Amino acid sequence: MPIPLDSSLWYLLFLSPVVPLLLLHRKISASKRRLPPGPPGWPLFGNMFQLGPMPHRTVAHLRDRYGPIVWLRLGAINTMAILSAKASANFFKNHDLTFAERTITATMRVHNYEKASLALAPYGSYWRTMRRLVTVDMLVAKRLNETAHIRRKCVDNMLVWIAREAGKLGEGRGLQVARYVFLMSFNLLGNLMLSRDLFDPESNEGSEFFTAMMGLMHWTGLPNVVNALPWLGWLDPQGLRRHMERDMGNAIKIASKFVKERIEKQSDEKTQRDFLDVLLENLGNDTDEDSLNIFILEIFLAGSETTSSTIEWALTELLCNPETLSKAKAELSEVVGCEKKVEESDIENLPYLQAIIKETLRLHPPIPMLVPRRAMEDTEFMGYFIPKDTQVFVNAWAIGRDPDVWEDPLAFKPDRFLGAGIDYKGSHYELIPFGAGRRMCAGVPLAHRTLHLVLSSLLHRFDWTLDADTTPSTVDMRDRIGITMRKLEPLLAVPTVAI
Ligand code: HEM
Repeated sequence: MPIPLDSSLWYLLFLSPVVPLLLLHRKISASKRRLPPGPPGWPLFGNMFQLGPMPHRTVAHLRDRYGPIVWLRLGAINTMAILSAKASANFFKNHDLTFAERTITATMRVHNYEKASLALAPYGSYWRTMRRLVTVDMLVAKRLNETAHIRRKCVDNMLVWIAREAGKLGEGRGLQVARYVFLMSFNLLGNLMLSRDLFDPESNEGSEFFTAMMGLMHWTGLPNVVNALPWLGWLDPQGLRRHMERDMGNAIKIASKFVKERIEKQSDEKTQRDFLDVLLENLGNDTDEDSLNIFILEIFLAGSETTSSTIEWALTELLCNPETLSKAKAELSEVVGCEKKVEESDIENLPYLQAIIKETLRLHPPIPMLVPRRAMEDTEFMGYFIPKDTQVFVNAWAIGRDPDVWEDPLAFKPDRFLGAGIDYKGSHYELIPFGAGRRMCAGVPLAHRTLHLVLSSLLHRFDWTLDADTTPSTVDMRDRIGITMRKLEPLLAVPTVAI
């Protein structure tokens, strides 16, 4: 006869296998919804006041305490920071599509900038069309080869400006190299896009455009309280929106004048297709004038300061490490000789120069946390739950210093790249100054040629020393963040004509 069980016992018997299952299920769901670890933040503001003026450095240091994936709350914006080469590889290889969109901040909405921008465009048909225009129609190898003489002309002009200025300097006094490289890049992009020099000491419009662009770079780079506290937007407490509206308005107005002048000149002077031709042919009536001007501005923003900052750091590192400078000069003498100028076709025969550019970009990526990505949906990343709309900082600065993959990571040693087969074209996730994946920099082929041509020409044409007041051990190596990261104290270097 069966032993009668009272109801509570039945209950226990019935539940005994279920309870552990339920607990297990809860544990799994909890881990599925587990956010990455991160520093505690303040109510409402989260961690926004903890990042300081060098967010890439502050965030990089969080790895010691919280590991390679760190969670931050910047006011209203959930943010994940990726700090190791391993996590970066996982992100780009397995999750690139989920994070293919950008975070749009308040200053980016001024004059509807974000609507015409390629860098900020949602992952969709507009982005695809514009990206194809840049990578296929504008910067494909054949077009780049056809425009080599333009880069040559702009670099030659820069060398003349520097030689002229050097003649006016007192004994042992240096000049701000980055300024000349910036102006050169500005004119280079002007010539490639609109077939004209934009910076000419004689032209007021050129300098007005330049001033407006400098303003844009400055305001965009400043941290904006409104990004974290959107309800303060109407107040514009730091005046950033007001300043952006003024400078962006000026820049668009001048760009639009340049475009009109260039279209009028079309038939008489111009012999070669430029970027504007490509844009007009491909977009035709589909695009309004403002969008065209904004797109042109964007290429200036993307390509000018990034180039000058990289060259300034390269020269700084070389002057602080004289043996690397001697090796670079010896390579140039051997491969190019002193009878002729360096040409783009020489670059492939200059492995040490290439290693210097890589080493510079490893230690000083001009956009240290890339252009922030955004999660398009709820997802899981390396065991953590990442909610939709999370912003992602891929910290290229920290990844370039990751001790798990770089030996003696803080030292400037270009030799580490010789024969190593590592490059920055998007498949070596430990070296990502141009990002990787779908939203990787669209300008890499142009940047690659320009950086090598400019640095080699500066080293070939001049002998360089530090300003008389500085020695390698007293050079200020701090950086500052604007739209790009550059030297806090501009490098002052003394050029002496070498050939
Ligand atoms: C040293 C030079 C340069 C550096 C270090 C650099 C770096 C970068 C980085 C880090 C990104 C974001 C990548 C990501 O989110 O994964 C980017 C995007 C971009 N860059 Fe560059 N860049 C440089 C030069 C240029 C030049 C010369 C151009 C144009 C002619 C250019 C055009 C762009 C564009 C259009 C994007 C947006 C791509 C997209 O969202 O699909 N860049 N760049």
